[in-house]
Order: sequence, then structure tokens, then C-alpha cells
Amino acid sequence: MKDKTFLMIPGPTPVPESVMLDIAKHPIGHRSPEFSSVLKEVYANLKYVFQTENDVFIFTSSGTGAMCAALENLVNEGDKVLSLVIGNFGNRWAKIAESRGAIVEKIEVSAGEVINPEVLKKRLAEDTNKEIKLVTLTHSETSTGAANDVKTLCSIIREHGALSVVDGVTSVCAMPCKPDEWGIDVLVSGSQKGFMIPPGLAFLTANERAWKVYEQCKHPSFYFDWAAHRKAVQGDTTPYTPAVNLIVGLNTALKMIKEEGIENVNARHKRHAMALRAAIRALNLQLLVPQDENASYAITSILPPDGITIPDIRKTLKKDYDIEVANGQNQLKDKIFRMGTLGFVCDRDLIASVGALEATLQKLGHKFTLGAGLQALITNLNK
Ligand SMILES: Cc1ncc(COP(=O)(O)O)c(C=O)c1O
Repeated sequence: MKDKTFLMIPGPTPVPESVMLDIAKHPIGHRSPEFSSVLKEVYANLKYVFQTENDVFIFTSSGTGAMCAALENLVNEGDKVLSLVIGNFGNRWAKIAESRGAIVEKIEVSAGEVINPEVLKKRLAEDTNKEIKLVTLTHSETSTGAANDVKTLCSIIREHGALSVVDGVTSVCAMPCKPDEWGIDVLVSGSQKGFMIPPGLAFLTANERAWKVYEQCKHPSFYFDWAAHRKAVQGDTTPYTPAVNLIVGLNTALKMIKEEGIENVNARHKRHAMALRAAIRALNLQLLVPQDENASYAITSILPPDGITIPDIRKTLKKDYDIEVANGQNQLKDKIFRMGTLGFVCDRDLIASVGALEATLQKLGHKFTLGAGLQALITNLNK
């Protein structure tokens, strides 16, 4: 049906109507007092959502822009960077570091697995000369649906003395992520994920340890320069012309998050992800991340049943039920489909999606007890 598509992909995610209506208003001048007062609220509420006392910068870019904003202000040619890779996005950190001339070493695991803290501890213990300057890691790895234990990993990194640089693109809002409490030195995220607004903005927060490394950076980024952004935050402005309308929408979305409470937003994502996982198991389908404790609350990766293809599942869900789920990426293309439970998602959306998935699987000839997924989903949602 026209105009009925529901996004169950891990970004862009659904946007509340009140946010869309705010974005649709005429742009306001980016140097006007009116916009400054919007920014003042936005900067304060971003600190609340990021659970930090440090400034949160806003970039007019996608999430990858914020990843560049992190490494392009920290890495000098020849620096040693350790990248913890559990999927495509972990690998993206390594590629960005390499683009700045860093010597990159990776600790890599198979799709669906997470970094074992003992492996990291051992590698960093071997670095007795403290040559590793930075460790990059992904919190919620969107390409697989696995989530690293960032709290433990960052405490190990802190013990060694390197900087921890964390991709929170699909974890901030969806999962507890506490940079000040956990010792995350640099954390980035993007707007089209848990923030309930369309793509186009990205965020970065850095602590004093990271600023000391920034000060040693020989060729910091121009557009993403931290010093320019810090000065702008202090003046309730931005260094360059920002995506004014998106920031107006972000103001509304952040107020909604604050009203719900960040802990409750995290808890809602967990409840949805765990209920969906129970439903998937009840439908005799396999999860790419088998252990609940390693699962992202933002995204669930599912293997197709024997004899049924991912394109058929995605096509039927879209054509017959107006629900869009994501394919796997790169080597996981057509091997998994991914369902997002990220951002502006309520119980009704999950019930509709699992119902539609059951209808799809029945049409495609999968053997399961019709209603088993919904029963498991609703039982878990109502716990
Ligand atoms: C974990 C993670 N990191 C980074 C990115 C890159 O963000 P963008 O596509 O907005 O540049 C994504 C996008 O899906 C992501 O999920």
C-alpha cells in the first residue's frame, strides 16, 4: 500500500510525526537568537542522552563522518592503532585509521561473536613499551547484531593507558552506554538510529584524556576540528551552516527521550530485542548471535530456514505487508536478514512485524506452528 512502509531496518529508523512536522517548517537563520536557544537546549539534552559531563558535538554528516571526526583529530602517521573487529563497522575504524597513515593491528572474530576481554588483556599486556596509542571498538555491531561488553573492554584499555574510541552509532539510546562512568574516551553516534530523526547528523563526545591526544595531532581535520566545535558549543552555535531543520527536529526528539527517561528507553530496547529473539526461536529459526548476553538491543540477525531465500523473505514482507527488513552486508549478503528494534518502536510494531513474518514464512512453505512466534513475543513483552 502506498505510504505504508514500516522500517524494521537498523537505520534509518521510524520518525515520530511531531518530529517530522517540526522538520517541515521553514528553515530559521543559523546565526539567529531563535536558533541559538534551540541549540542551547539540544547541547544540554545531548549530554543527558550521552550520559556525560563533556560537550557533545554535532556534525552535519552521517555516522561515518563522526568516525572520521574521531580519528582524523587523534591519529598521526605511524601511530599504532589496535582495532577490535567484530564486523563491517569495526573494520571501518581500521580503514579510517589506515587512511591517516596509522599502523593498524586487528583482533578479529567470526560473524556473530564478540571480543573476549581476556584476549584484549593479553595483547595489551604484551605491549610493555606502550606503543599502542589507540584502541577502536564497536559497541553494537550492526552488520551482525552482536554487542561488545564495552564497559569491561574500556576498563582494560584504560589500565593499559591507550585511548578507547567507541562506535556507539546503534548503541547510544538503545543500550546502556556511559562514557564518563565506563571510561570511554571518545564516543560517536548518528541521528538516523536511536535518536528518532532522519539521517544527516552525527555526534561525538571526547574527554580530557582525548583532548590531550588531540593537542598532539599534527594535521587535525578542518571541517570536523574539535577546537572549532568546542568554541561553537560554548557560544550556543555551530562552526558552519548546520542542517538547521534536522536540529530543530532533534530538539523535539531529545525532549521525548528525556521525558521517557534514558534508562527506560534502554530498557524498552532490551525488552523488544529479547522478546523478538524469543519469537524467532519459537519459529524454528536460528539467530546469528546465539547468546542473549552478546546480543545488541538495536538489531537482530536471523538465518533463513532451509530452502527459503533471504530475497524471498524480504520481498514478501515488503510487497505483502509493507515491512522492510535489511539484508546481510558483504559476505553475509543473502545469508541473514536483519530486523531493527531501534528508536521509535513500540510493542504494536513488534507484534505487527512478527505476525507479518509468520504470514510470510507460511506462504514460503516453512514448517512451524502458526502463532508460536507471536505467543513467545507477547509472553515476553508482557513479562
Ligand atoms: C555501528 C555503525 N557504525 C557506523 C555506521 C555508519 O554510519 P553511516 O552509514 O551513517 O555513515 C553505521 C551505519 O549503519 C553503524 O550501524
